[in-house]
Amino acid sequence: MNIILLGAPGAGKGTQATKIAEGYQLPHISTGDIFREHMKNQTPIGVLAKSYIDKGQLVPDEVTCEIVEERIHREDCKNGYMLDGFPRTIPQAEALNKMSKVDLVINIEVDFNLLMERLCGRRVCKDCRESYHISRLNGETKCARCGGELYQRKDDNPETVKSRLAVYQVETAPLIEYYEKRGLLFNVVGNTTPEDVYAEVSKKLDTMK
Ligand code: AP5
Repeated sequence: MNIILLGAPGAGKGTQATKIAEGYQLPHISTGDIFREHMKNQTPIGVLAKSYIDKGQLVPDEVTCEIVEERIHREDCKNGYMLDGFPRTIPQAEALNKMSKVDLVINIEVDFNLLMERLCGRRVCKDCRESYHISRLNGETKCARCGGELYQRKDDNPETVKSRLAVYQVETAPLIEYYEKRGLLFNVVGNTTPEDVYAEVSKKLDTMK
């Protein structure tokens, strides 16, 4: 099963991806995480990606598509994969069509006014990448899953988030209609708790087994 997770920044793609990966044994491929790993290691891709990510802009399609193509052709994806944060533009979706079949696109819908608060209050585990929100942490600074240290992403500040949301509306939102027309779209309301969102998603995934 090849799945795409679609949704605005902060919609809960990463949160659901962790649950789906565990529940359905699918490799979780987050282009954002791949770029952050390159940035940490200061590779040429990392240096290039940083210049876009820090401004809340998208990394160029050619670079992103090349990374995804290499990743989804690895051995662990031969029975399926889950893409989180790719595609994000129509040209990326067209490129993916040439690389692989897509079985389902899960679009997480969240009221736009909730996203700023979710992102600016997010903390991420530096080891296992689990996402938390400060409102649920009660001052805890370690990951409940693996004990890793929690940190705030550099692009989770009000100015950069504003730019990421604007880019989403122009570049990524058109993918909703794109996949709807192809009969691949499954919309899920993302304003409820992570557990309730996952319950809806798994009902759908269970029909596809
Ligand atoms: P990326 O890392 O993919 O960031 P994003 O799309 O902006 O998405 P986020 O990770 O910010 O949000 P999310 O939807 O995963 O939300 P989460 O589950 O953490 O990309 C970063 C950058 O890399 C991009 O800006 C771009 O520059 C570049 N890039 C990446 N892919 C690219 C591509 N394909 N092409 C070009 N450039 C690319 O949840 C957010 C918060 O909400 C957390 O605090 C969480 O605890 C909380 N939360 C989640 N679900 C719920 C819920 N149901 N109820 C209450 N709180 C919730």
